[in-house]
Amino acid sequence: MTKPRIAVVGAGLMGHGIAQVFALAGHDVAITDTVAANLDTAKARIAANLRDLGDDESAVSRVWPVADLGECVRNADFVVEAVLEDMALKRRLFAEIETHARRDAVLASNTSVMPITEIMQGLRHRERALGTHWWNPPFLVPLVEVIGTQWTSSEAIDVTMKLHAAAGKTPAHVKKDVPGFIGNRLQHALWREAISLVEHGICDAETVDAVIKAAFGRRLAVLGPLENADLVGTDLTLAIHRTVLPDIEARRGPSPYLERLVADGKLGFKSGRGFRNWTPEQQAALRSRVFEHLKKSR
Ligand SMILES: NC(=O)c1ccc[n+]([C@@H]2O[C@H](COP(=O)([O-])OP(=O)(O)OC[C@H]3O[C@@H](n4cnc5c(N)ncnc54)[C@H](O)[C@@H]3O)[C@@H](O)[C@H]2O)c1
Repeated sequence: MTKPRIAVVGAGLMGHGIAQVFALAGHDVAITDTVAANLDTAKARIAANLRDLGDDESAVSRVWPVADLGECVRNADFVVEAVLEDMALKRRLFAEIETHARRDAVLASNTSVMPITEIMQGLRHRERALGTHWWNPPFLVPLVEVIGTQWTSSEAIDVTMKLHAAAGKTPAHVKKDVPGFIGNRLQHALWREAISLVEHGICDAETVDAVIKAAFGRRLAVLGPLENADLVGTDLTLAIHRTVLPDIEARRGPSPYLERLVADGKLGFKSGRGFRNWTPEQQAALRSRVFEHLKKSR
């Protein structure tokens, strides 16, 4: 049986990586981008990644760069959009994709945080539209959150879950289209408390990161929080929550400490200063440490 044909719209950081995963899994992948330089280099970037990872480099022959959006999506069974995080652009793009794509094609957005409902609300056939939220780099981080809206059919969810599982990903069904889906809600709940600890002088930024990396960060990849709660006992978890929850950060908006960093131009790597100071060498070392760790745990 031939594998579903994939179309990827946007050949940037995420788009080329998503195309790579599907091509390696044996799918024909058409890819398009409005910036010629990004489209023209997509295959070379995929080939370089495959080489670096020791994956089958011939997979790149299944990737077809196409300048025209209509041509890219016309024969696809599954279309995934990975253009800039811009609501108006995504809405316009899906309206155009729908005029070219097959009636039965599933249409997915890789938005990080924008509501899928808002992106897809103008479509004529909203039952085949959903979110697939990949994590960077797409070829190293297993998770793909599959987000349905109130209109998405169970068939579209099912097809999408199976497609990504067969391509070696770990799909997770997000049953309600809530901001941040699952992963970013959890991640930013942790970041809120991390910033609060620094804001209130309980420790400095280095210490927050050191505590996580030397303690429950070590376990997180193999022990989720709810598994952990069962492991220690829900009664103990309840007792801890009674003591700790009244004291931890619960403000609804961003931290004033974070707002002040941004106002002062302390933007992190891009300005060399954020919660901490970063030389170019330290930045390169951190990026490389993360990449090598993800490669090892693939
Ligand atoms: N970078 C991440 O870590 C990450 C993680 C998960 C999801 N996302 C989401 O994925 C999407 C893409 O992010 P990215 O980091 O790959 O961005 P990127 O800037 O690297 O790539 C976006 C690409 O879209 C192209 N593009 C812009 N308008 C287009 C159009 N009309 N048609 C076709 N191509 C067009 C750009 O030329 C560019 O190549 C965003 O919605 C982002 O929020 C990003």
